Amino acid sequence: MQNLYIKTYGCQMNEYDAERMADVLAVSHGLRLVDDPALADVLLLNTCSIREKAEDKVFTQLGFWRPFKEKRPEVVIGVGGCVASQEGERLRRRAPYVDLVFGPQTLHRLPDLLDACLAERRPQVDIAFPMLEKFDRLPQRPGRDGATAFVTVQEGCDKFCTFCVVPHTRGREYSRAMPDIVREVRVLVNQGVSEVTLLGQNVNAYRGATGLVGEGDLADLLERLARIPGLLRLRYTTSHPGNLDERLIAAHGNIEILAPHLHLPVQSGSDRILRRMHRKHTVEQYLDKIARLRAARPDIRISSDFIVGFPGETDADFAATMALIDMVGFDQSFSFKYSQRPNTPALRLKDGVPEAVKDARLTMLQERINGLAREYARALVGTRQAVLVTGPSRRDPRELTGKTACNRSVNMAGSMDWIGQMLEVEIVAALPNSLRGRVAHSTAVSQRLAI
Ligand code: SAH
Ligand code: SF4
Ligand code: F3S
Repeated sequence: MQNLYIKTYGCQMNEYDAERMADVLAVSHGLRLVDDPALADVLLLNTCSIREKAEDKVFTQLGFWRPFKEKRPEVVIGVGGCVASQEGERLRRRAPYVDLVFGPQTLHRLPDLLDACLAERRPQVDIAFPMLEKFDRLPQRPGRDGATAFVTVQEGCDKFCTFCVVPHTRGREYSRAMPDIVREVRVLVNQGVSEVTLLGQNVNAYRGATGLVGEGDLADLLERLARIPGLLRLRYTTSHPGNLDERLIAAHGNIEILAPHLHLPVQSGSDRILRRMHRKHTVEQYLDKIARLRAARPDIRISSDFIVGFPGETDADFAATMALIDMVGFDQSFSFKYSQRPNTPALRLKDGVPEAVKDARLTMLQERINGLAREYARALVGTRQAVLVTGPSRRDPRELTGKTACNRSVNMAGSMDWIGQMLEVEIVAALPNSLRGRVAHSTAVSQRLAI
């Protein structure tokens, strides 16, 4: 047994978890990642259940893997992530050839599960929520390539929005100890990482591990990390508006390396729908927070998630969402048609919106958001931006690609030695999905470049 193949989808926290699954199995069983599932001895599928479509992928993907096991019965197939957490044993009823079922909070137990499965020759299911264990049991991160990295600092959710599975699949809110996070980020920076994105389903609910000396909130954590030499940019995602407090708003003004970009999902622009969603804030409160953020950091860009067609959403409610989009001028955002999720309170709402209406609203909303994002991209042309070089361009490997503070891709000519550095780049063109740039200064510059 030597080869491991992991397929992951869903949120960035799942990407982080998938990396950690590989780390843990490399240490325990000497497994190394391969790109071809046909070569793998252990196949892991890290799943997401946020929307219907995501969940449907599980059994299609497992169907593709089934023949590998029929050919080589010793192949081990495991399913982790939020669908595993939600379905547990039931998952094996639909796909009996699955050997391991583990949740987002039990991935550190993979080595034991794998051993038990091999020794007892029977499937293993472990979808408990032993929050305190997960991060304590993960190994140090081994060497890695790349200029950017994710670090999960907070897990789970206590908000219970009526449409959402996350509190059910990831469990209650839990924050990692600050010294552990600082250590992990230091290791990453020593390996050449220059930009770190702190992750959590409610990352701004971060509170540190309770009872430990020196713990604090997200503003404290960001301040602490900003002092690490060599770390050039910090981001965090995803935030709940309710947890965006004065201290965090102030941090956006004070912390130089904090990217002037915030993903702050609002879901709807109608108070009536926000109430039914149990989002715990009004449109006015949301707008007030944006205004205060902009006062603290005038160049900040705001993006959001939207749900259209939540049960009971009228034309007027939807119009309010469109009005909010114009008021805020959101940047590149995500939008989804409401889909019913298992175990969620919104299942009981009877006034569902017809599929055709949802489709029409989604198209309208996306056109508006894309229009705003294009307008902004065009406005960037002629300005100088702080661009973090992340690697060779995918389209033309002789070129470099990088990211602006507002997370847009920029392609440009330059030296591969600049990977991992922050450059001052003049934006020369706005293409449909990326920007074209010309390096103005090949030295690290402040993120506070005027636009
Ligand atoms: N914690 C974040 C969101 C995490 S889920 C927050 O509170 O904003 C990511 C996004 O998926 C949500 O913002 C929402 O827009 C979308 N989503 C969640 N459940 C959904 C559902 N049942 N139907 C459609 N979209 C959904
Ligand atoms: Fe889901 Fe709401 Fe929690 Fe976000 S805040 S993860 S949408 S329950
Ligand atoms: Fe999906 Fe679970 Fe993330 S449902 S969005 S993988 S927390």
